[in-house]
Amino acid sequence: MVSLKGRNFLTLKDFTPEEIQYLIDFSAYLKDKKKKGIPVDEFKNKNIALIFEKTSTRTRCSFEVAAHDLGMGSTYLDPSGSQIGKKESIADTARVLGRMYDGIEYRGFGQEIVEELAKYAGVPVWNGLTNEYHPTQMIADLLTIWEYKGKLKGLKLVYMGDARYNMGNSLMIACSKMGIDFVACTNKKYFPNQELVNQCKEYAKASGSVITLTENVEEGTKDADVIYTDVWVSMGEPDSVWEERIKDLTPYQVNKKAMDNAKPDAIFMHCLPAFHDLNTKIGAEINKKFGITEMEVTNQVFESKASVVFDEAENRMHSIKAVMAATLGMEMK
Ligand code: CP
Ligand code: NVA
Repeated sequence: MVSLKGRNFLTLKDFTPEEIQYLIDFSAYLKDKKKKGIPVDEFKNKNIALIFEKTSTRTRCSFEVAAHDLGMGSTYLDPSGSQIGKKESIADTARVLGRMYDGIEYRGFGQEIVEELAKYAGVPVWNGLTNEYHPTQMIADLLTIWEYKGKLKGLKLVYMGDARYNMGNSLMIACSKMGIDFVACTNKKYFPNQELVNQCKEYAKASGSVITLTENVEEGTKDADVIYTDVWVSMGEPDSVWEERIKDLTPYQVNKKAMDNAKPDAIFMHCLPAFHDLNTKIGAEINKKFGITEMEVTNQVFESKASVVFDEAENRMHSIKAVMAATLGMEMK
């Protein structure tokens, strides 16, 4: 019997495949209840704090809606609205918030910050994205893959783009733990770091999956079940890297050719937000500067039937609800 009561949720490295599967199943269970209009609100006297040192649409809204559905109150601390790091250390903040709240979400920079928060808070801490990892996104993604493919084991997921950052790292961990073959298909400057690759190869050995790093798009995308990408420049990175990223990563754009090389029923995934047209401020600026109209994914693929990005976005809410419910002590019935 899996119990995650009192646990932090900082990276999937800390969770067994059985625990990860439990969170996927719990997410599906809560999604079903929500769709049927059956309330699951057993945390009526609890409150959570949401610390965002970087901006967000999906993660913030997911935590707020999920907390409300579970009967909890929530407080949002925006990137400028708290003392954190400027006037008050992480350890002190953790000890203050831990006295008032039953759980704390943190989105920000280094993983060591969320770890420090967890060390001192005395209540569960949930990582809402750091430079290194994005674990709540993983439960939503695995749930989405499960919904479309009916299984995880034996599938092939290809990640194209900056595979050294939070999304590439997290997908490699999630796939290797759950028996999904993982391919980082990108310029070798953007391969995940070797230490993490070695660690994931150990997970892969146990789950029976394979990790491949390749610069060859044809080989990388061949017979893929899932093609995944993310923005080429992440939050917190300087604008000065755009030119180099565009040059290095354009060959790894998810376009029709890449999708056609995958399995006929392959799905396209993206954690979002995505640059697939000119309807964003940054998209328009990049267009003016570099003349391109799309970046990590073409509009054609983004809008195609293979694209499951909005199911994925919805699943953020159900899976974040499951992570909170499980770590706050609810058991799936
Ligand atoms: N995918 C994701 O984390 O989205 P937000 O940045 O909008 O939270
Ligand atoms: N790699 C992206 C993910 C956004 C959800 C970033 O960190 O900005």
